[in-house]
Amino acid sequence: MEQAKLNTGYVITPLADALGAEVTGLDLAQPILPETIAEMKRAIATYGVLCFRKQSLTEAQQIEFSKLWGPLEDFPEEDKTVSAPSVYHVANVSADGQSLPETDFRVIFQKVNARWHTDSSYRYVPAYVSLLYGIEVMPKGAPGGRTGFSNMIAAYAALPNDLKDEIEPLHMVHTYEFGRRLFPELPPLTKFEKEAVPPVSHPLVRVHPDRNYERSLYLTANAGNEISGLPLDEARALHRRLVDHISQPQFTYFHEWEKGDLVVWDNRTMLHKAEAYDMSTYRRVFRRTTVAGDGPVLGPYSHAVINKVRPR
Ligand code: OGA
Ligand code: MN
Repeated sequence: MEQAKLNTGYVITPLADALGAEVTGLDLAQPILPETIAEMKRAIATYGVLCFRKQSLTEAQQIEFSKLWGPLEDFPEEDKTVSAPSVYHVANVSADGQSLPETDFRVIFQKVNARWHTDSSYRYVPAYVSLLYGIEVMPKGAPGGRTGFSNMIAAYAALPNDLKDEIEPLHMVHTYEFGRRLFPELPPLTKFEKEAVPPVSHPLVRVHPDRNYERSLYLTANAGNEISGLPLDEARALHRRLVDHISQPQFTYFHEWEKGDLVVWDNRTMLHKAEAYDMSTYRRVFRRTTVAGDGPVLGPYSHAVINKVRPR
């Protein structure tokens, strides 16, 4: 109990205008009170991204803290796991720390993360939060290697009304295979992976029943730009326009990593991306765990909410 008491004197400080807050004074390797998790869930709904500074977490401790947020996702591809199927080794070096050539598919997978996306949008039920822990980070002042975030609630609110009307009923196709379209040199999906994560579509405008049906944008910037009901060239143009819109600085925050940061983001309302860096010079090693969402993405016309969503 003494340790749990220690873990109550934390401070939450906003990081940027667009989104994000820093949490200091919590030791996530120690027991966390249920009311603290409830508070963190409220904070992430407000700020979108929380950075817990100066942590020292084993894999088992990260898994334990992550499970306090909800059940974890497993990754469809074995090569991404370290020792547990719920752990994703986000790094340009091998799981046992060996440097890798830029042609290695483990390095190429890092480049797939370089476009704005939200984790596991290729699933019918995408992720709630992701937790990314900084093990080896870029040296201070070295160029690139930050993680960018963009606030989809603010970006939606700032769209012109005619565009809001146009996108209100649309769905976008998300597919695990997008990485192969961008980087055809990656090994093809196995039959198991094709079966486990077939293409899905999600509403482009997401509504949040737990936030009074507020709307936010739900898209990725990668090659999955097929949009229901639109000819492909129109879909591409709309997709380009939306990606340019959400990339603007007033919606974004770029996190400069310190070793021991645990950054948690809300995949329902935030996009993120890895900023490019010189992969042949710098080692960059993170450990990610991911908490599953609690149901399919809901849009203004989804059966479950259609009579409850406020008209625009
Ligand atoms: C991820 C991811 C971004 C980064 O781990 O899901 O997109 O900066 N990472 O490595
Ligand atoms: Mn990601």
